[in-house]
Amino acid sequence: MRYGYFDDKQREYVITRPDTPLPWLNYLGCEAYFGLISNTAGGYSFYRDARLRRLTRYRYNNVPLDSGGRYIYLRDNESQEFWSPSWQPTRQPVEDYVCRHGMGYSIIGSTHDKIETRTRYFVPLDEDLEIWQMTVTNHRRKPARLSVFSSIEFCLWDALDDATNFQRNFSTGQVEFEDGVIYHKTEYRERRDHFAYFACSHKLAGYDTQREAFLGAYRGWENPAVVERGRSANSEAHGWAPIGSHHVKLRLKPGETRQIIFVLGYFENPRAQKFEPPDSQTINKREVRAVIAKYLQAENADAAFEALRRHWDNLLGLYQVKTPDLHTNRMVNIWNAYQCMVTFNLSRSASFFESGIGRGLGFRDSNQDLLGFVHMAPSRARERILDLAATQLSSGGAYHQYQPLTKRGNNDVGSNFNDDPLWLIVGVAAYLKETGDFSVLDEPVPYDNQPGSEQPLYEHLQRSLRYTLDRLGPHGLPLIGRADWNDCLNLNCFSDTPGQSFQTTTNKDGRVAESIFIGGLFVLAAGELAAIAQQLGRSDEAVRYLADGAEMERTVRQHGWDGAWFLRAYDDFGRKVGSSECEEGQIYIEPQGICVMAGIGLEDGLARQALEAVNQRLGTAHGIVLLQPAYSKYFLHLGEISTYPAGYKENASIFCHNNPWVIIAETRMGNGDRAHDYYTRINPSAREKISEVHRCEPYVHCQMIAGPDAPTHGEAKNSWLTGTAAWTYAAVTQWILGIRPTFAGLQVAPVIPTKWKGYTAVRIFRGVTYFIEVVRRGPGNSVTLTVDGAAVKGDIVPMPSAGTEAVRVSVELA
Ligand code: GLC
Ligand code: GLC
Repeated sequence: MRYGYFDDKQREYVITRPDTPLPWLNYLGCEAYFGLISNTAGGYSFYRDARLRRLTRYRYNNVPLDSGGRYIYLRDNESQEFWSPSWQPTRQPVEDYVCRHGMGYSIIGSTHDKIETRTRYFVPLDEDLEIWQMTVTNHRRKPARLSVFSSIEFCLWDALDDATNFQRNFSTGQVEFEDGVIYHKTEYRERRDHFAYFACSHKLAGYDTQREAFLGAYRGWENPAVVERGRSANSEAHGWAPIGSHHVKLRLKPGETRQIIFVLGYFENPRAQKFEPPDSQTINKREVRAVIAKYLQAENADAAFEALRRHWDNLLGLYQVKTPDLHTNRMVNIWNAYQCMVTFNLSRSASFFESGIGRGLGFRDSNQDLLGFVHMAPSRARERILDLAATQLSSGGAYHQYQPLTKRGNNDVGSNFNDDPLWLIVGVAAYLKETGDFSVLDEPVPYDNQPGSEQPLYEHLQRSLRYTLDRLGPHGLPLIGRADWNDCLNLNCFSDTPGQSFQTTTNKDGRVAESIFIGGLFVLAAGELAAIAQQLGRSDEAVRYLADGAEMERTVRQHGWDGAWFLRAYDDFGRKVGSSECEEGQIYIEPQGICVMAGIGLEDGLARQALEAVNQRLGTAHGIVLLQPAYSKYFLHLGEISTYPAGYKENASIFCHNNPWVIIAETRMGNGDRAHDYYTRINPSAREKISEVHRCEPYVHCQMIAGPDAPTHGEAKNSWLTGTAAWTYAAVTQWILGIRPTFAGLQVAPVIPTKWKGYTAVRIFRGVTYFIEVVRRGPGNSVTLTVDGAAVKGDIVPMPSAGTEAVRVSVELA
């Protein structure tokens, strides 16, 4: 069953009924000001940091679902009936409901009693504000007398504080109202130099800034007293809960359409110029007035929207493909690329499943997110790499996350995840291959943000590799620390206290438990660093890293092979995890994927055997599960993984993030059919037809899909913010389609399904447009390459000479 459809031409998903199984989200904003918006206008906004600079309030985990948003009410002043064009929060029956989620914007509307409303929500490029452009049309045969009420609820800036510290917050709220604009300025009188504003393009019949005056005591957003009676209270908030609501009265002739614009934004004043007059407590509005005035003009709002459209044309134009498969095309050309932008910006911080409070930017997550985004915004990727590296510790280890506003690492979600530093090498390698910008390696970057500790980025990479070698266990395999990629495989925690955090509690010093996953990742990273060293002309180092990688590979083969697949780990007692000897959890997906990606066992059949085992033991129609058999009870020595009921999360769900590793591994084995089959199983567009089972948005990947051990097999959770986005994008674009940036040029080595006759693609790489045509002549993957009409050996298109704008590449596959 479907709840809408894809409009690929507009690059939109069009939702046609408001009661989707879960709120189906989109994101507004590309760089600094962001908003989450659901298909019924729920969600909230923030500036840079979802926790520290929250502008509007949201009620998590609430009933009804998805409470708090950018709500507009309409009221018919004759019948006195009122409704929400976005369905929520009044949930009146609506006709012609539609929500078009597009690239950085959403358009939501419906018709009620022949009054049609559409609101376009978006954030202009390079601005710290959002625009709501609402059009109202009277389809009646007689004039309509209407009232429009806007509403948002201001948050008190730090979202955690907002949710917990009412004894203070109920007394600090302050607003100003001037020229129809509502200014939210809580704490501006003291240490803040920023405030929020909410403006309207029309003359107001009234306004409100105090929640209780607007809603009425003991009432909710579904029937605000002000809307019911059709008259604002003109309230001024003193403490309690500041809100913003405008009231506009409209008289519409039959057939008439009017547009009303609302602008909600964030603004910073220079410290010395906070107030005007300077000795007052009144916000200095000299600068902000111009910004507000600009976007309340329809022409300017329209121009900003067009600029946003062009921005996305350009970004998505960097990689466009036409294959025989609709779902591949749609995801590569539109939605997967778009999701990569969102995960790059927000890491795992703010979604319907992430509160925006708990997690900032993860070290490992953000490095992986680069893989899907680096071609779209290389300069932002560069900045991100340097920010991440600056949180690295001098030991080579890393803080597990940092807060985007402060860019300082913290241990709030634990530390000593021993895989973390290696991901920096993977992220930097992707950046270098895409851009060729080796100057980044010379950038002085501090450790732990300590001034004076700066070393070239290259040295950070060296310490990353060293960090693993300094921490080898009894078998010579990497010690796991708190956990590796799998946050929940906690072999040193031994937690027996209810509620204790697996992320911050350690009971063992961890000199025994080892990870084969980190072993595989090390081999991969050592190979990348060796290639980088080679490019720098540091051949001795390149040789050493390759030798380190080879040594680790030998160790993995010797102690990390279980007979038919790669082992997962050794626990604190030196016993095997992920082995046929185990009672449960006999085979895990992660080491199979990463070891084959690293090239281990490609030649001698180990890789083939491991991937067969994955196919036989872990494959389901909804994707590949993380492990089997699922843990049926809590195992003290394994930690959080066994706290989840069987089939959920790390305990044997389809944890989508690692499916693309197996997809890449299959392409390394030359198995395009299987790679694409796995890809399709988790492809959200291909799953659209089972939306009632999948339940999350059909246009973006989710973190997990319940595994076969769960009663809800096939049900997705944690959509949007997941490493699945970047890895799947890398798997399909670079490995199945096979178009890969390398140091020597653009490689085209497709491993596509045998039944595909070929595909065409346009890829802009280092400023040059590559028109690629792949034609299948035989069932295999061997490439015959022609570049601008001339035969070229191998499968890498050499770097074109300076000034070249376009290159024609044709590939025959046989
Ligand atoms: C989540 C985390 C990621 C981790 C994964 C597996 O996606 O954000 O860091 O690797 O879970 O536990
Ligand atoms: C796990 C999640 C993982 C997260 C960890 C800590 O359940 O899957 O993503 O990092 O918990 O919050």
